[in-house]
Amino acid sequence: MTKRQGVAVLGATGSIGASTLNVLRRHPDRFRVTALTAHSNVEALDELALEFDPAVACVTGLEGDLPDVRWEGDWRVGPDTGFDAIEADGTQIVLNALVGIAGLEPTLRSLELGKRLALANKESLVTGGSLVMSALERGGGELLPVDSEHSAVHQCIAGRPRHEIAQVTLTASGGPFREWPRDRLAEARPEDALAHPTWDMGAKITIDSATLANKALEVIEAYVLFGLDPDQVGVVIHPTSIVHSLVEFRDGSCLAQLGRPTMEIPILYALGFPERIGDQRTAPGFDALRDGPLEFEALRTDAFPLFEAGVEAGTRGGELPIAFNAANEVAVAAFLQHRIGFMELAEVVISTLRQFDAAPVGSTEQIWQADGRARALTEQAIQAVRLRDTNPPAEISIFGEN
Ligand SMILES: NC(=O)c1ccc[n+]([C@@H]2O[C@H](COP(=O)([O-])OP(=O)(O)OC[C@H]3O[C@@H](n4cnc5c(N)ncnc54)[C@H](OP(=O)(O)O)[C@@H]3O)[C@@H](O)[C@H]2O)c1
Repeated sequence: MTKRQGVAVLGATGSIGASTLNVLRRHPDRFRVTALTAHSNVEALDELALEFDPAVACVTGLEGDLPDVRWEGDWRVGPDTGFDAIEADGTQIVLNALVGIAGLEPTLRSLELGKRLALANKESLVTGGSLVMSALERGGGELLPVDSEHSAVHQCIAGRPRHEIAQVTLTASGGPFREWPRDRLAEARPEDALAHPTWDMGAKITIDSATLANKALEVIEAYVLFGLDPDQVGVVIHPTSIVHSLVEFRDGSCLAQLGRPTMEIPILYALGFPERIGDQRTAPGFDALRDGPLEFEALRTDAFPLFEAGVEAGTRGGELPIAFNAANEVAVAAFLQHRIGFMELAEVVISTLRQFDAAPVGSTEQIWQADGRARALTEQAIQAVRLRDTNPPAEISIFGEN
């Protein structure tokens, strides 16, 4: 019998966390849960701890006393306790399902300790790509992507040398506004943006899918992960999310990975690699008659300016991808709180980006500095937009009496 591998699930109470725990529930002979973390949802974490009985359960967003809980095991509370989860007894695999730049330090620590990191948190690679890749080299661990597109690329490349790869094409569903005309997008509400047509995900990534910022983050993630030039990574819209990505090789062969749109497939792949573990829920994945025809279309970059802004930030590098990520996190939160509109979300991110250049970044301190500055500037841009919305300039007065 194969020895059971210990898995720490960071962000256990989120969407990827839930999918991961579904996979782990079905494979108790292969994996055991060593640690679980949440940011503030103690009640949900308590339920999970009762079920999985990990070595530690960590709440990273609280300071001080823990509210009443039923699980009587080892609770850790405080911002640094995510590291306790990574270092918990028996952890061999860390599944990083945190949202935002909060995932960066846990990514670095996992790799420095030589763990297998199953990485859903793309923001780690966008903000700290070169640091992450050098931590991987130093620590001698493994980095397996969980994002479905990058899992697809990993599966298609299957260890072939980088010089054989001509082009990687990531697919995008196009999100809920794929068919909305540009002039209607200004009216899009958070409720509309949260209604994703093919994927059931956490709120932040769902909004990022609606603005296509998510696809820009994924383009950056792809060239960091696979060591490609930015112009080797393209994107195509594929509304049914069956083809998860394509890799074209120098000899003209193109490989694609196909499967139903469930995150449980890439999660299982990242946990089990190089083995393909049998799973009755995720298989069978693709039925050519049921799931065809496979349709593709071009991205409408004019209606979704965050895609090009993010890709350009990633291509130029330095502080720019950090600023893009931070500005986007702040703007998404403001949109979800109804403080700004859908098109204003892109506007404030782009106005923040204009205040940065590609100044090189070589340490986590510099990353946090750029992140903090971008957050403050984005908040100012949000205030300016709100002021403008409540006091529209005279020339666009609805009374037309200037
Ligand atoms: N959802 C998907 O299908 C999907 C697909 C591909 C990639 N991803 C990527 O996977 C990551 C997670 O996405 P998700 O949709 O699962 O997010 P989510 O549902 O919002 O869950 C986020 C998790 O992280 C915790 N968390 C939130 N803020 C935190 C902070 N500041 N510090 C530490 N922990 C924090 C949350 O805890 P509480 O519950 O206590 O707040 C929750 O457990 C993102 O990077 C996303 O881009 C997601």
